[in-house]
Amino acid sequence: MADAFVNISRSHYCGHLRSEHTGQTVTVMGWVHRRRDHGGLIFVDVRDREGLVQVAFSPEASAQALEKAHSLRSEYVIAVTGTVQPRPEGTVNPDMVTGEIEVHAQELYILNEAKTPPFDLTERKDVAENVRLKYRFLDLRRPSLQNIFILRHRICQIIRNYLSGQGFLEVETPFLTKSTPEGARDYLVPSRIEAGNFYALPQSPQLFKQILMVAGFDRYFQIVKCFRDEDLRADRQPEFTQVDMELSFIREEDIYGILEELMQRLFGEILSLEIKIPFPRLSYHDAMNRYGVDKPDTRFGLELSDVTEALKSSQFKVFANAIEKGGVVKGITVKDGSRFSRAELDGFVEVTKIYGAQGLVWIRITLEGWQSPVAKFLDEREKNAIAGIMHAQAGDLLLLVADASFQVVCTALGNLRLQLIKKLGLEPAERFAFTWVTQFPLLEYSPEEKRFVAVHHPFTSPVEEDIPLLESDPGKARARAYDLVLNGSEVGGGSIRIHRQEIQSQMFNTLGISEEDAALKFGFLLDALRFGAPPHGGIALGLDRMVMLITGVDSIRDVIAFPKTQRASCLMSGAPSPVDPKQLQELHLKVIMPK
Ligand code: AMO
Ligand code: AMP
Repeated sequence: MADAFVNISRSHYCGHLRSEHTGQTVTVMGWVHRRRDHGGLIFVDVRDREGLVQVAFSPEASAQALEKAHSLRSEYVIAVTGTVQPRPEGTVNPDMVTGEIEVHAQELYILNEAKTPPFDLTERKDVAENVRLKYRFLDLRRPSLQNIFILRHRICQIIRNYLSGQGFLEVETPFLTKSTPEGARDYLVPSRIEAGNFYALPQSPQLFKQILMVAGFDRYFQIVKCFRDEDLRADRQPEFTQVDMELSFIREEDIYGILEELMQRLFGEILSLEIKIPFPRLSYHDAMNRYGVDKPDTRFGLELSDVTEALKSSQFKVFANAIEKGGVVKGITVKDGSRFSRAELDGFVEVTKIYGAQGLVWIRITLEGWQSPVAKFLDEREKNAIAGIMHAQAGDLLLLVADASFQVVCTALGNLRLQLIKKLGLEPAERFAFTWVTQFPLLEYSPEEKRFVAVHHPFTSPVEEDIPLLESDPGKARARAYDLVLNGSEVGGGSIRIHRQEIQSQMFNTLGISEEDAALKFGFLLDALRFGAPPHGGIALGLDRMVMLITGVDSIRDVIAFPKTQRASCLMSGAPSPVDPKQLQELHLKVIMPK
């Protein structure tokens, strides 16, 4: 039977006690983290959000409390009143912030019992994630996880303070709304009142924040949930949090400046790191060309080289054909890479094939000459030219991909580069490297949909002088869009928006969205643009990804209190789950199960 929780008040958090409290009578409350029972002497580490403190139960302090302490088990909830004493000589624990003292218990209250936890909360290792997620209330008790959420809270505080100081207003926008195209599938909510009609949960507050600019709010921000039904990965959740911003009467430079200062503050206050600003900028083309991705991890070398020129008249058909079709041959130089085994080289070939390449040519540069399946097709002039461009030296390995598509070559090599960085165990040149990626194309052609689609979203402004291209050559138009990349992760994206109605209409037209369709889906935006919309633009940061990078965890699930699995389910609550047929009826819905 637990003791009633009456007339007991906490005086201190466990983790706050220090030697300066010596001699004081204190009352702490928390969970039994660890218990060592030496019969006549029991030590209990009591844990609360702020940390652990050792409580000693002895016959000298209180025979009654000692007697009661025998029944304590892991995760019992207790309150202890006692005096703070220095630990005896030789028992000071330098690994604990409270390690110089202990509490000599005079009163013990057992406030609640606990079943034996399904996993040991004192040990991080080897707990299957599905068990952790099912018992998330226990998992979240672990200090390592609590620390992440304490940090996440501080990050949000800093962001709120900074943006408020810069004149941003925090305004909430609806969750029950219309679809906003951000490139993912919508989560839909059926309307009970209007049979057959649905709300969409926002993929982002994009249209509402633009409308707030039309409404004259000038600067808006929101730390807000976004919902996207897409394939999940280590850094993607179906519901995630954005730090969403929009500003009026600004250009790209204003946004870069605000974000750079925000990052400088965050990293300065949280990690005591000095982040250098302004951040380097790379055009989308240069990012692809040099790193093979639009979110380059610039902390490492291993940049891609272009050997197309050297192989224009190659005897090797694969190269010649690719170049003839307007493609490229690019490669990576792996210093001292010629030691890789055939099996490892075959592994590299497979990586590039996953990313769409037809194959990969490897060349080992040895003192005896070039070893490669294609060596016999390369003449001295070509070899010299390649060696020059790729800075090849004896012992190196050259990896080449050819394709008619620049995109395919870059993507294959870009992904191979990331694997090589891991495999070679390369040390990053710095702990954090920010990069702005700019000058994205506005549109890309979708062969499946047989039309152009927006690379960012349809509200992104083209570069002013490219507006005529919307009609003549849409694929060539450049966007006023930018991504913020940190250590190879896209932590933010945004753009300057279209603020003139006729250009927005033209954009929809180029995207193959009919006038009726545009009016149906985005009529309210087009309408708003007709009533004096100021020039505006914005950006959204992926807060979860930022927290991941700052805390150094690999899984986005560790920075979200109640995350979803890869299958978008919550193992703790059991969502999604079937509903009462009556509820379906009220919503005018009938479920057709897949075969
Ligand atoms: P975008 O779609 O680029 O832009 O999203 C902004 C940032 O949100 C993060 N993010 C995600 N994080 C976790 N899980 C996901 N499924 C996920 N999807 C995106 C990324 C990304 O950089 N409305 C625009 C912003 C704007 O134009 O102002 C938008 O949503 O870090
Ligand atoms: P194949 O002509 O298919 O026998 O290929 C000969 C060699 O060229 C093999 O090592 C392939 O992996 C490689 N190869 C094939 N296609 C390409 C390509 N597009 N780019 C680079 N290497 C390729």
